[in-house]
Amino acid sequence: MVPELEKATVRIRQPERVRGIIRSLREQGVAKLQVISDFDMTLSRFGCNGRRCPTSHNILDTSRVISEDGKKKLKDLLHYYYPIEIDPNRTLEEKRPLMVEWWTKAHELLVQQKIHKDDIAQIVRESEAMLRDGFKEFFDQLHKNNIPLFIFSAGVGDILEEIIRQANVFYSNVNVVSNYMDFNDDGVLTHFKGPLIHTYNKNNSVLQGTGYFQQLSTRTSIILLGDSMGDLTMADGVPSVENILKIGFLNDKVEERRGKYLDSYDIVLESDETLDVVNGILRYILTET
Ligand code: C5P
Ligand code: MG
Repeated sequence: MVPELEKATVRIRQPERVRGIIRSLREQGVAKLQVISDFDMTLSRFGCNGRRCPTSHNILDTSRVISEDGKKKLKDLLHYYYPIEIDPNRTLEEKRPLMVEWWTKAHELLVQQKIHKDDIAQIVRESEAMLRDGFKEFFDQLHKNNIPLFIFSAGVGDILEEIIRQANVFYSNVNVVSNYMDFNDDGVLTHFKGPLIHTYNKNNSVLQGTGYFQQLSTRTSIILLGDSMGDLTMADGVPSVENILKIGFLNDKVEERRGKYLDSYDIVLESDETLDVVNGILRYILTET
């Protein structure tokens, strides 16, 4: 059915169930399909050249427009809060207020840096931002088949949009909800627009008023892509879900987190820097029956 599912990086707890969902997605047809995806560490790579790849926040935090003191403070925040974000032994209730603290402090520091709107393209160009291997086929397949792609990100919207723009895949079927910067008349960052999106509130609570999923009410087949336990609620605002396939990238602390990921995601991709499996599933679904 999908040869990519034989890759060594693939873990599935209930293979029969997964085959059933994929078969239904194909039977329901392209017109009913939509894709909902996280951005950082899901569409973008986790590792590159033996090092960690930057998140959209990291790209800004380490760029030349941030003072040395600002860089240090932002890095200290990352070292304090990231282990909390991915800790499998803390509940989401425990994590939520701490994530709000992290994002709020980081955004305050960024605002102090007088970042200019016109610098963003150059910051992204000079960064080590990298989309996962196979991104072109992924975006192209969705675009050619008019399948809406919703990118739901707790990262920085202006940065991630620029990454996909520079990769030449920011097509008309792509919609992004994320944390966007607001600039004054001189083009200087003054604040981040609300509502604040962090790892663990990626659900309908921050989509109120967008009407996005309501417009797509006939799209009842969902492929959800994420890398965090917080990404599992991204489709909660879809009015009627008939079939949903959840694919999770398990990038970090693989051994410790495997159990929880296998409980929650239908397909878990361990240390897989590619979109091969996603592309294989799409190719199968999009093949004329
Ligand atoms: O869930 P999502 O991928 O949208 O979350 C954004 C990512 O950005 C998280 O993985 C988090 O570790 C990272 N982050 C960061 N710096 C911040 C806030 C979040 O690198 N200040
Ligand atoms: Mg992510």
